[in-house]
Amino acid sequence: MKRLSKLQLIPGMTVAEDVLSFHHQLLIPKGTVLTDKLITKLDLYGVMSICVEDSIPDISLVPPAPKVPSYSERLKNSEDFLQFKEDYQLNLDCFHDAMNRVVEKNIKLDVGTLLKSALNMVANRSGQVGVLDMLQNMHEFDDSTYTHSMNVALICNVLATWLNLDQNEIELATACGLFHDVGKMLIPHEIISKPGKLSPEEYAEVQKHPIAGYDLLLSQDVDKHVRFAALMHHERNDGTGYPMHLVGNQIDKYARMVAIADVYDAMTAARVYRGPLCPFRAIEIFEAEGYQRYDVNYLLTFLENVVSTYIQSRCLLSDGREGDIIYINKDKLSRPIVQCGREYVNLAEHPDLTIIEII
Ligand SMILES: [Fe+2]
Ligand SMILES: [Fe+2]
Repeated sequence: MKRLSKLQLIPGMTVAEDVLSFHHQLLIPKGTVLTDKLITKLDLYGVMSICVEDSIPDISLVPPAPKVPSYSERLKNSEDFLQFKEDYQLNLDCFHDAMNRVVEKNIKLDVGTLLKSALNMVANRSGQVGVLDMLQNMHEFDDSTYTHSMNVALICNVLATWLNLDQNEIELATACGLFHDVGKMLIPHEIISKPGKLSPEEYAEVQKHPIAGYDLLLSQDVDKHVRFAALMHHERNDGTGYPMHLVGNQIDKYARMVAIADVYDAMTAARVYRGPLCPFRAIEIFEAEGYQRYDVNYLLTFLENVVSTYIQSRCLLSDGREGDIIYINKDKLSRPIVQCGREYVNLAEHPDLTIIEII
């Protein structure tokens, strides 16, 4: 038996010890063979490592390698993406430097400038979904707290736009995303980047980051919602979050947006055995587990918009067939109707089938 971080897990491994949530709810029983979906579910509950058997994993469960060139590969070769990547890297360097100055020397944050460059990245794009797609394909370049923060800022921007908030609120939501994990930058790097099991003391240390972030932002000239988002983004609607176990509207509105963007970014990240997760798989996991834990309105708006952008897209089904997504089932967003040749496959009626890739 060995303990592996979630980044080292691959489908086919056998779970050696019951996997429990922070609140001791059984998530995956001992003896279960891991699938891609179960590994992704760990993100939803913030589980960082689990114990697996030493036996050789059943490689038939590893998702098939995508055909070449995939949607993701085409996107990565597009001029738009190369430009986005350049902008992104530039912004990331500025953000990195600025945050280091704040954390090490308590220098005042230039929120306006940092925010402006993040907003420019979105403004330079033709459509918002382009941004989500591009972010997903950026994942494999770097997964540090800095990139994660930048991603969450851009996802919050897209979500706030979809919620029809006004420009000030959209900018505020972006800022809340950008600084939500600022407290992590105060936690020793060895703990944040540790691949193996965290000791209970180390885990407790990581869980201090919302309060640490809030305290750090108190001495900065930022809107109170930016501080609240740092403090409350791990709170959950049903009281199962931390650090204060708040429920529903006790959680700041912007923190509720950040919570969704935060988990979506973590879920869709690339893994050692596959590229970034197909959005339909992430949506399926949210649908199965997420509605009671997140702001339902925000989550529905987010998922509905993500899904609608894939209408008319070509996809690969889990049985190897290819087809076009032609109709979204509103009550089962992850299971649209797909036209495969002359056949209409309603995924809502075929629980055994899933969309595994946009091609
Ligand atoms: Fe966090
Ligand atoms: Fe985060």
